[in-house]
Amino acid sequence: MNSVIKNLSELESFAKKLLKELRPGDVVALSGELGAGKTTLIQALARSLGLSRSALSPTFVILKSYPVDYHGIKRLCHIDLYRLNDFKAPHGFEECLGEPDTVCFIEWAEKIKDKLPSKTIWLQIKARSDNSRLITKTP
Ligand SMILES: Nc1ncnc2c1ncn2[C@@H]1O[C@H](COP(=O)(O)OP(=O)(O)O)[C@@H](O)[C@H]1O
Ligand SMILES: [Mg+2]
Repeated sequence: MNSVIKNLSELESFAKKLLKELRPGDVVALSGELGAGKTTLIQALARSLGLSRSALSPTFVILKSYPVDYHGIKRLCHIDLYRLNDFKAPHGFEECLGEPDTVCFIEWAEKIKDKLPSKTIWLQIKARSDNSRLITKTP
């Protein structure tokens, strides 16, 4: 499925729609170049889950988790593998992915593709010359 997102307010609507499709235990893998908008999308999703704006700001921490309460989703996990250079899953990774009440978002997920469950939802984000974003979702 392809979506063209023209600006940040359309991204907000996209995040709300995506959130309705998510179930506890889902793993969402995001790929796309630096600046494509992976973190921005996860922040929009986090806001829809009721987390404050300051949560999910970029840090040097690879894996962070936050308590949430949304239709059976009790925890949001944000993993950013940008600085990962040994292609080994970070500390705490198994606990996040294995938890049935957690939704896990992974930036630069292609680095550990073979460690992700087969039912992982993939979002490929591409910035276009007019500053819109093309988001391709599989499956
Ligand atoms: N859909 C969008 N429309 C316009 N600008 C966007 C969109 N998504 C992200 N941006 C902007 O792109 C920049 C980089 O986004 P970021 O989420 O940090 O990228 P990434 O995590 O993929 O490296 C931010 O300034 C953000 O505001
Ligand atoms: Mg990022």
